[in-house]
Amino acid sequence: MKFSLISLAALATPTLAKVFYAGVAESGGEFGVWTDNGVGRGLPGRFGSDYAFINKTAIDVMIKDDKINLFRIAFLLERMCPPSIGLGEVFNETYFDLFYDAVQYVTVRKRRYVILDPHNYMRYNDPFAQPYSGSIIGDASDPNSATTQDFKIFFTELAKRFRHNTRVIFGIMNEPHDMPTSLVLKNNQAAIDGIRSTGAKQMILAPANAWSGGHAFTTGNGNEPSSDYLHLMRDPLNNTAIEIHEYLDDNYSGSGANCTQPVTRLDGVTNWLKQHGMKAMITEFGGGVNPGCAQALKDYINYLEDKEVWIGWTAWAAGPLWGHWSPCCQSGQTLGSFEPGSRAGDGGPG
Ligand SMILES: *[C@@H]1O[C@H](CO)[C@@H](O)[C@H](O)[C@H]1NC(C)=O
Ligand SMILES: *[C@@H]1O[C@H](CO)[C@@H](O)[C@H](O)[C@H]1NC(C)=O
Ligand SMILES: *[C@@H]1O[C@H](CO)[C@@H](O)[C@H](O)[C@H]1NC(C)=O
Ligand SMILES: *[C@@H]1O[C@H](CO)[C@@H](O)[C@H](O)[C@H]1NC(C)=O
Ligand SMILES: *[C@@H]1O[C@H](CO)[C@@H](O)[C@H](O)[C@H]1NC(C)=O
Repeated sequence: MKFSLISLAALATPTLAKVFYAGVAESGGEFGVWTDNGVGRGLPGRFGSDYAFINKTAIDVMIKDDKINLFRIAFLLERMCPPSIGLGEVFNETYFDLFYDAVQYVTVRKRRYVILDPHNYMRYNDPFAQPYSGSIIGDASDPNSATTQDFKIFFTELAKRFRHNTRVIFGIMNEPHDMPTSLVLKNNQAAIDGIRSTGAKQMILAPANAWSGGHAFTTGNGNEPSSDYLHLMRDPLNNTAIEIHEYLDDNYSGSGANCTQPVTRLDGVTNWLKQHGMKAMITEFGGGVNPGCAQALKDYINYLEDKEVWIGWTAWAAGPLWGHWSPCCQSGQTLGSFEPGSRAGDGGPG
């Protein structure tokens, strides 16, 4: 999305101090695999053209001008763990080093926070038509799927590599969907167990099912409600928060121009969090460029600021490869992204 009427900087100016983390999703490390003709390309992909993590100069600009302190950096599991080897402890060190460099830049050089974001919808092995392709991790009925144990081993290895970096937050998974919520719970628990087995103490973000939709948290929207399961996670350090996404358009997808869904759609999950003494972050949200959305987004941020269960957010999206394309809403060509200096397809400001 692009807020030309309400800037990232305006969103990031807190009215109360409960939301500690505020920033933007850096999308790009997962780019370049999708194809609409079924012919796979972009794996492993070329750094800088098929995929990229951050533009360091752009990060500097956003920190200075927008006063944000959090970047959610996406990566692709099939690039980190090539399918020829499988999900687990063997990483592609070239891809890892490029990702590591981005994480170190933000956390060590700039002293801001990073959410590590496996952008895989709880699927692995075939990202070509994400979010729908690939085998569901831990799906025992699918002989091609990676197991929950593989997932745990992956997180153990990842956590070993970041356990001493206190500005790293471990995201478990972007947007699980169309799978049993009991399996989301099981995989989340495996990731938590793997991370904690290394001695890593940082915060973990555990995703809700149903695309992590906040409005669907207590209803499930065709899946078993996340509210029936996610309080059953056990973290010995009690440092796991829930990861929620919530767009404001009609179908909550972030593709509609108008903000028709009120922020009170988050009341169910907000109450659940209070009831279970848990916290959450919104790591994707957005609305179109129009006065209605500008007001709706202000209301949204105020809502989060007002409820102490909400501790942070990242807006969708910035990243070095968006070019003229917009991550949101309706017209992909004319809106641009949050990437500083980006231009919209119509030549207007990005
Ligand atoms: C990185 O961002 C800077 C500042 O917006 C811009 O001038 C530069 O062209 C960008 N570089 C790439 C490779 O996108
Ligand atoms: C590892 O990643 C690099 C950079 O994307 C790529 O050039 C290389 O082919 C990859 N190796 C494997 C085994 O996937
Ligand atoms: C975590 O929370 C549980 C339940 O409230 C409590 O019994 C336990 O002592 C807490 N552990 C830590 C490390 O705070
Ligand atoms: C949501 O609605 C938009 C139109 O506002 C449409 O383009 C998009 O395909 C819909 N998405 C889903 C997931 O239904
Ligand atoms: C968005 O709202 C405007 C102003 O109310 C209206 O003209 C337009 O048709 C709406 N667009 C959609 C896709 O609903």
